Amino acid sequence: MSFSILEKQELVPTIHLMTVRAPAVAKKAQPGQFIMLRIDERGERVPLTIADFDREKGTITMIFQVLGKTTMHLSMLKAGDDLLDFIGPLGNPAHIENAGTVILIGGGVGVAPVFPQARALKSAGNKIISIIGARNAGLLLWEDRMREVSDELHITTDDGTKGHHGFVTDIVKKILEQGTKVDRVIAIGPPVMMRAVAGITRPFNVRTIVSLNSIMVDGTGMCGACRVLVGNETKFACVDGPEFDAHLVDFTLLMSRLAIYQPEEKEALEKYTCDRKGCSC
Ligand code: FES
Repeated sequence: MSFSILEKQELVPTIHLMTVRAPAVAKKAQPGQFIMLRIDERGERVPLTIADFDREKGTITMIFQVLGKTTMHLSMLKAGDDLLDFIGPLGNPAHIENAGTVILIGGGVGVAPVFPQARALKSAGNKIISIIGARNAGLLLWEDRMREVSDELHITTDDGTKGHHGFVTDIVKKILEQGTKVDRVIAIGPPVMMRAVAGITRPFNVRTIVSLNSIMVDGTGMCGACRVLVGNETKFACVDGPEFDAHLVDFTLLMSRLAIYQPEEKEALEKYTCDRKGCSC
């Protein structure tokens, strides 16, 4: 069995959207979950968060950033190509309830997994305040889709080319300092951003949820690769998460574990790029 790519486009430089036909996965997919895919029999397994799903069409949409060899390979596929494996939905669904006012924060490619949660939380009757950020205006993702499901949408860019000149954390801090009653914060993005959000919401005692992107191998709780420390307890992001209480996550450990294979990943990407160009270095 193979899984056909129905759509593939580069949304902004290095960030791609891919929609795959996978009816069995789409039938059960919920916001907050992820899939694992393998391009071919020699490929590594990579986890990607579900950015959207359509149960009627039987499709799953992912948004990914080119960071290493596999995501580079993935970015070169096109509509009509097939993936060998496509497993999911994996992980626990996000907890969707009417909490009141929810701030959703998406940093960089993290906007993609935030979107289905914002949509579901809006349908559940919450007031949605969304904050999306990127390094510059050209890298902002899904502003239009996020606007559709938000009561308020704030934009930040590191270089000030759109919206607030600064970081998503500046806006969260401002909203909380103004005394707005916030019942939950959900933040998905680079670990350094999620750690900063947790640092801001902690003194305000606002429940804060993050989605952890730890390294995964099997995605089913067997290998231990995705180990994280939450409230001084070892948890597996794939089966216990991927969402956790941000105030209990050991982000320092998360970041050091994410960096373990960086030299090998860099080498694999360089070799892949060289092989494609046919150079002999
Ligand atoms: S990916 Fe293997 S235990 Fe989570």
